Amino acid sequence: MISHQIAEQMSRGSLIRKMFEEGNRLKQQYGADQVFDFSLGNPDLEPPNEVQQALKDLVNNPEPGLHAYMSNAGLLSVRETVARHHSNLSGLAVEASDICMTVGAAGALNVMLKALLDPGDEVIVLAPFFFEYLSYTNNHGGQTVVVKNNPQTLLPDLDAIERAITPRTKALIINSPNNPSGVIYPRETLLALDVLLRSREQVIYVLSDEPYADLVYDGNTMPSTLACIQNAVICTSWSKQLSLPGERIGSIVISPRCEDRELLSQSATYCNRILGYVNAPALFQRVIERAIDAVVAIDQYEKRRDMLFTVLGDAGWTVEKPAGGLYLFPRSPIDDDTAFANACARHRILLVPGSAFWFPGYVRLCFAVSEQTIRNSAKAFQAVAREFSLS
Ligand SMILES: Cc1ncc(COP(=O)(O)O)c(C=O)c1O
Repeated sequence: MISHQIAEQMSRGSLIRKMFEEGNRLKQQYGADQVFDFSLGNPDLEPPNEVQQALKDLVNNPEPGLHAYMSNAGLLSVRETVARHHSNLSGLAVEASDICMTVGAAGALNVMLKALLDPGDEVIVLAPFFFEYLSYTNNHGGQTVVVKNNPQTLLPDLDAIERAITPRTKALIINSPNNPSGVIYPRETLLALDVLLRSREQVIYVLSDEPYADLVYDGNTMPSTLACIQNAVICTSWSKQLSLPGERIGSIVISPRCEDRELLSQSATYCNRILGYVNAPALFQRVIERAIDAVVAIDQYEKRRDMLFTVLGDAGWTVEKPAGGLYLFPRSPIDDDTAFANACARHRILLVPGSAFWFPGYVRLCFAVSEQTIRNSAKAFQAVAREFSLS
């Protein structure tokens, strides 16, 4: 018999999984090229040459202990490289001891939540948000407190955050560029959030989930979280920047300005071990050391973003151009975004209702799909527009 809690969670199912299953059914019925699947957030570009070259070098000139256990925080030379990278971005003196290499951004978040939470401690998350935060918080005995972002700007609502803080608030998770909205939180927003959090007596850590930090378009830049927020811990990965999601390589970066800086890094290292990750994948730590400045061909993502944005706009959908990330987040023309997503599926367009991200009234489309899929989908988007009288 499995745990009651897990059995209950599994029976609730997920909107994304339902969409995935519906997609498989449609693909069997109509053929894969007749189904326009924008539902999965799976980077589809190949990793940059630097990654391929690093792998070849590592395999052709294997050093002793290439695959051995190591310090639970990761290889020192890798952590020095990651620390230098974040020092350059933030202007702060980030050191190797502030870095813990992790099993993706998901591993980084789980390690930090494990390190921070006592049972019943609260973690504020800002909707729309990556739904796995609910499970991650629950994994470590925490309570998630959902605060909705401003419905017009999709930026954090500082008054609402202030009202949500209690003596049990231990951490707040931010994610920018945001999945699903594509919004980049501006510097002023981060600075104002810092002022708000520092006005409280207790320490509230900001866990900044930034796997899309390098996927920004139109010359936009992502402000440095460490430079803006005192008690910031970056939880991130190279899953999107280097198109390596299956390799599970990420890191924790503890701000040198953090309260209990040393204790945080010691506890992150310890939790990496006791959660069973032990250490981040050895080979890919070494790849990161060699390819940390590389980025996938983001001009291709930008082109696809523009193509899908034009297809939707021409069909009459209401949508903003996202500044970063891999998603468009148009409005649902009806309140029930799940019913709208089901209607889109009848036109063989697969997308995810905003409700899955605790932000109903919208739907999410991932533009990491082929240009051909986007071109071929135009008629289906127009058909949906006709059914819902979009002008
Ligand atoms: C916002 C966000 N955070 C975390 C993750 C997990 O990243 P990783 O695969 O590096 O663990 C994802 C994956 O899509 C994501 O979109």
